Amino acid sequence: MKKDILSLGIESSCDETSIAVVKNGREVLSNVINTQIDIHEIYGGVVPEIASRNHIENISAVYKAAIDQAGIKPKDIDIVSATYGPGLVGALLVGLSYAKALSFALGKPLVGVNHLQGHIAANYITHPKLEPPFLCLMMSGGNTQIIYVKDYTNCEVLGRTKDDAVGEAFDKVARVVGLGYPGGPKIDKLAQEGEPNIDIPKTHFDDMNFSFSGIKTAVININHKNPDVNKADLAKSFEKTISEILIDHIHTAVQITGINTVVLAGGVSANTYIRDSFLAQKDLKVYMPDLKLCTDNGAMIAAAGYYNYLAGEVSDLSLNAIPNLKL
Ligand code: KG4
Repeated sequence: MKKDILSLGIESSCDETSIAVVKNGREVLSNVINTQIDIHEIYGGVVPEIASRNHIENISAVYKAAIDQAGIKPKDIDIVSATYGPGLVGALLVGLSYAKALSFALGKPLVGVNHLQGHIAANYITHPKLEPPFLCLMMSGGNTQIIYVKDYTNCEVLGRTKDDAVGEAFDKVARVVGLGYPGGPKIDKLAQEGEPNIDIPKTHFDDMNFSFSGIKTAVININHKNPDVNKADLAKSFEKTISEILIDHIHTAVQITGINTVVLAGGVSANTYIRDSFLAQKDLKVYMPDLKLCTDNGAMIAAAGYYNYLAGEVSDLSLNAIPNLKL
């Protein structure tokens, strides 16, 4: 009988310290997430130095809780998976150094994971039968990409944003209309009380690349010119415009590749309007992560690490953090 593989996943690329134990890349035994949102909220965004310090303070307790909740002993871990980029360098170094120490102490392989690959793998946990190939729409705070996922460890970026990431646009619009940080969930909530009745001009690209800064600026200008504008209507109109662009570009990718399985990933895939809009596309087979797996977490890193390990992609202790790591 094939032996089960327990992957410990460590995530510390931004403001979440998270460690999880995942069996065979699909079954979550524990997923402990310590978020620093409250700490950074007063600054209106993540302060890198404060993030690193908090990772250092929290990581040992998060590790212990992950092991306890999984009901295992440290020696039961088969591989130690950790995010090594992209992200904030100081924050990445905390999780990666912890992973190296554990790998060395336990005598278990270290597996470096690209954070974006982790976001894709969140879907393998939510949908146990999902397998590549598929198209992935990656929508996080720092990235917006259309990715052709050919295999678990092989993918090609077909299009990306030329300016702001979609999460960045959500966060900046939220700040300007006075909602604060983190903007995405706050716009999501407010938009549920609004109507999409404000016309927001779109920036058009003929290929699969995106541009969101024009839309962001248009929303900010509408708000400046008419401070009494209904904020819920503005939020919903912004979401509608963004959704239409995302769906339009995905249809282009479907036409070009002939693949109609579309997988959403990254923090913005938690957005209610975007989720509903994609589910309404009856010509697409749409998958999305459980809400709790959309934003940063260790389970997605553990799952991605498992597939890297199966592909023989094991790292040594010289592995370094790469803040601008690409897929
Ligand atoms: O993937 P993620 O957790 O971190 C990165 O790897 O970047 O994404 C964070 C982004 C933030 O911009 C946040 O505002 C956005 O995801 N976000 C949302 C929602 N939840 C998180 N955006 C729109 N609607 C949401 N419900």
